[in-house]
Amino acid sequence: MRASEQILDRLEREPALDPVAERVSAFWSTVLRSPRLRDLLSGRRIGHPLHPAAVLVPAGTLLGATALDLTRDPDLRPAARRLIGIGLLSAAPAAVAGWSDWLDTEDAERRVGLVHAASNVVGIASYATSWWQRRRGGTGLAAGLTGAAALGLGGWLGGHLAYALGVGVDTTAFQHGPAEWTDVLAASEVTTALHQVDVGAVSVLLTRVDGRVVAIDNRCTHRGGPLADGERDGDCVVCPWHASRFDLISGAPLQGPASRPQPVYEVREVDGRVEIRRTEVRALRTNPVGPQPARALAGRH
Ligand code: FES
Repeated sequence: MRASEQILDRLEREPALDPVAERVSAFWSTVLRSPRLRDLLSGRRIGHPLHPAAVLVPAGTLLGATALDLTRDPDLRPAARRLIGIGLLSAAPAAVAGWSDWLDTEDAERRVGLVHAASNVVGIASYATSWWQRRRGGTGLAAGLTGAAALGLGGWLGGHLAYALGVGVDTTAFQHGPAEWTDVLAASEVTTALHQVDVGAVSVLLTRVDGRVVAIDNRCTHRGGPLADGERDGDCVVCPWHASRFDLISGAPLQGPASRPQPVYEVREVDGRVEIRRTEVRALRTNPVGPQPARALAGRH
């Protein structure tokens, strides 16, 4: 195992981080107790988590300032200081969005997320020190370089969170529902209650809206909560884990923290039976998990 993998594996399993995470979680749960604020920070309105987009400005400006410093051109020093100022101001909303995402993590994701955040806090504090030193006539170079190193570490861990641990990824991204019409249940069994049916490796939520049978993916796109175990509220379903609210017809998230819509299945009734299918155009969804329909593999390799 490479050294980087060993470090990450150690972090994922480090129990000493758990008590710290508990205290930090209690703090942010209090600060971010407003569901409307959590919804705003989730990124639901832009269709994916806000945090990765929000870090672009602070990361770009702060690291840009360090790049200017490295030119050793004294004429660029005022520009570098301004970039640091912009970076520090824009870091606050990006960080709060990240803490909001972190609150809905557990175990390894929570431990790595905590160290990711700590690295970024060190990075921001270092750049703040650098800005202050520059204001007093100093170079602020060492503090800036320290900040860049800490942000680099934080970015590396953030990449691990997203690309290896899947935090923020639509949890249905690799699921493949039936491409052909598939019998799932007798129509008489489908009521306005929330019904879960398993179709191959995919779990589907069936219910009736205005008498019509509708079907959406049962796995919440946020962190994978089982929607059929949630509550129905009008034409919506509320996830039992973090209370995201989804429209039962369109699958759209109407309340975060989920930012991605639930996959929707076509439904028809034939001879008293309910059949569903979903036409898929996404390559990673047609590279299925679990039992693999022959059609999904046709034409590959
Ligand atoms: S798993 Fe978080 S809202 Fe559904």
